[in-house]
Amino acid sequence: MTEASDTLELCARADVAEGSILKVETDGLVLAVYHAEGAFYVTDDTCTHGPGSLSEGYLDGHVIECDFHNGSFDIRDGEVVAPPCVVKLKTYKVIPHETMVVIARA
Ligand code: FES
Repeated sequence: MTEASDTLELCARADVAEGSILKVETDGLVLAVYHAEGAFYVTDDTCTHGPGSLSEGYLDGHVIECDFHNGSFDIRDGEVVAPPCVVKLKTYKVIPHETMVVIARA
């Protein structure tokens, strides 16, 4: 029997240019990987307000604006920044890695 890893590799760091977002589907999760101001952040890709895909939204610093109804979240902690969103966005802990974006499994 093999033990499940407690981390999950999402993509290469080089796959996500500074200021951009990559949608990653893996292990039953649909995630948005952000490269913002020199660091990587990972959240659920689906907006908590509706069907908006946050990887198709607009990233401004650490704020992601959903392109569906223009609600926004802080990608560092998932807190709502602007309505109509009211429910916090799920975020994932990014594990330091030289070449890959790796998260801790929830
Ligand atoms: S679906 Fe994202 S703001 Fe409405």
